[in-house]
Amino acid sequence: MMDRPLFLVGCGKMGSAMLEGWLEMGMSPEHIHIIEPSALITEELRDRGLGAVTALSDLPADLNPEIVLFAVKPQSMDQAVSAFAEYHLPNTTFLSIAAGKTISYFENILGAKTAIVRSMPNTPAAVRHGITVAMPSGNVTESQRKICSTLLEAVGEVAWVDDEELIDAVTALSGGGPAYVFLLTECMVQAGIDAGLPAELSSQLARVTVSGAGELMRQSDETPSTLRENVTSPGGTTAEALKVLMANDAWQSLMTRAISAAAARSKELAG
Ligand SMILES: NC(=O)c1ccc[n+]([C@@H]2O[C@H](COP(=O)([O-])OP(=O)(O)OC[C@H]3O[C@@H](n4cnc5c(N)ncnc54)[C@H](OP(=O)(O)O)[C@@H]3O)[C@@H](O)[C@H]2O)c1
Repeated sequence: MMDRPLFLVGCGKMGSAMLEGWLEMGMSPEHIHIIEPSALITEELRDRGLGAVTALSDLPADLNPEIVLFAVKPQSMDQAVSAFAEYHLPNTTFLSIAAGKTISYFENILGAKTAIVRSMPNTPAAVRHGITVAMPSGNVTESQRKICSTLLEAVGEVAWVDDEELIDAVTALSGGGPAYVFLLTECMVQAGIDAGLPAELSSQLARVTVSGAGELMRQSDETPSTLRENVTSPGGTTAEALKVLMANDAWQSLMTRAISAAAARSKELAG
């Protein structure tokens, strides 16, 4: 897939999920160089036979990476990216998964001719069921785009957009989406308890129902609306619940407000 090495900058939750995905898809460990300041993490990685250093300066200067993937928190990004500013890496694609860091942010530090892909994954990446939306800068070639797709597909599905403005809504929908589903589960647990179920049973029922419904939706060709209609007998119990949830567009208007608030915050953070 790649002739030259891959640098993974930051091996926390997201970085390590991606690393495991690459190894699982058969990528050669010799191709991967991990830069991660935590000595504890680098030691663990080295024990597994992976190449890990605590700073970029610990790597030979002539490695000429094909891809540099930034998986550090946005607040650590200045330091992580600046470390590359003094290297001349004309054929390298810089791939970022950081929330709120725009393509022009990277171009300002790395130069306007740099190939940059800004992307937004989500946490189900940890179980290879994430979705990442990626946006290329004008300098990204078709083959660079393909390599980024393959790397991101190691942890789930990938969708590309050509309008960076969309990333705020993406962040609000799929970036934060898992949290909304977890909140839904919490609400179902509490409602089950309120309806008289023991807490442990209510928790088990809600958790397995949400994850099972998610898996059913993933495997099915039907739309979510059809799947909903399939469990709703006219005049039955589910119909009674849906009357409450759908009255006055209750959930829809709440969700629209929530996603719009998150998108506005994403725009604000990106400056
Ligand atoms: N988690 C999500 O839901 C989610 C979703 C979409 C996108 N993202 C993005 O993914 C990125 C990573 O998030 P995360 O949750 O994986 O964070 P994380 O678990 O904190 O991992 C970041 C890792 O990067 C290391 N690091 C810090 N400064 C560095 C530097 N200069 N060079 C190399 N490594 C450095 C950190 O080490 P120390 O701990 O020692 O500082 C840490 O191990 C963020 O930018 C976030 O916006 C996350």
